[in-house]
Amino acid sequence: MSTLPRNKKQAEIDAREEAASRMAYVGTLASGLAHEIRSPLNAMKLNLGLLGEMAPAMSAEKRAEFERCVRLIEREVDGLQELLSEFLAFARPPRMQMLATDVNDLISQVIELVQPECRGKHIEIVRDFQKDLYPVGLDQHQFGRGVLLNLLTNAREQIKEHGTITLRTRETPEHVELQVEDNGGGVKPEDEPKIFELFFSTKEHGTGLGLPIARRIVQEHGGELLLENHPGRGATFIVRLPKSKILEYKK
Ligand SMILES: Nc1ncnc2c1ncn2[C@@H]1O[C@H](COP(=O)(O)OP(=O)(O)OP(=O)(O)O)[C@@H](O)[C@H]1O
Ligand SMILES: [Mg+2]
Repeated sequence: MSTLPRNKKQAEIDAREEAASRMAYVGTLASGLAHEIRSPLNAMKLNLGLLGEMAPAMSAEKRAEFERCVRLIEREVDGLQELLSEFLAFARPPRMQMLATDVNDLISQVIELVQPECRGKHIEIVRDFQKDLYPVGLDQHQFGRGVLLNLLTNAREQIKEHGTITLRTRETPEHVELQVEDNGGGVKPEDEPKIFELFFSTKEHGTGLGLPIARRIVQEHGGELLLENHPGRGATFIVRLPKSKILEYKK
């Protein structure tokens, strides 16, 4: 039983309902927008392909400039398509496909995706894995892309150049825990309460979708995503996942 005074309790309920209706509004907006933007984007992509095919007919000097422009537009269109998919993933997450997963393996797969960029920027990725980790029930695609890749990308973007990202896994009696730690200076204390909010970003080209998406996916897995901030030194994002009962019986 809660001992909160009635008006405080009511205020909390109102705040939760307002947040829920805002989320529903964002969801509707995202689906509508995605629908409107997807078709013209597809048409642009298709026509860029056709433009590219015209390049061989051009004079050598014009061709290089032409191809550069086409590539640039193509990159931007790809970026927009990706953004749209993220919006859609947020608005209508697909049904989860839960598979017994060795988190160490999944992290290693995602590291592969960021490794080339990190190598170029002298960012070292350190693995501090607990061996023979208890397998947890995960949607590997959603968790890999939506959680691990987002956290790793944030760490990489925060460090910019020269630094270390440490990935740690640990098992407790009830949870499998993973940590993404960086030494990129951490979150500004005044930003701490805002970083999981939709659209909050301190980056010039950030959309502020990464962390809210990551947190939502973790919560849909029955887990929690927390920040352990060390201002001036770095940030550690902690994902705590429950050991699934079903898997326990099978062990
Ligand atoms: N590892 C980190 N260290 C310091 N600050 C961070 C870290 N990760 C996230 N933040 C802060 O939290 C904000 C929100 O992160 P989030 O991933 O949601 O959005 P973003 O990275 O700005 O944009 P997007 O992920 O959509 O490209 C960031 O803009 C940054 O200020
Ligand atoms: Mg991000």
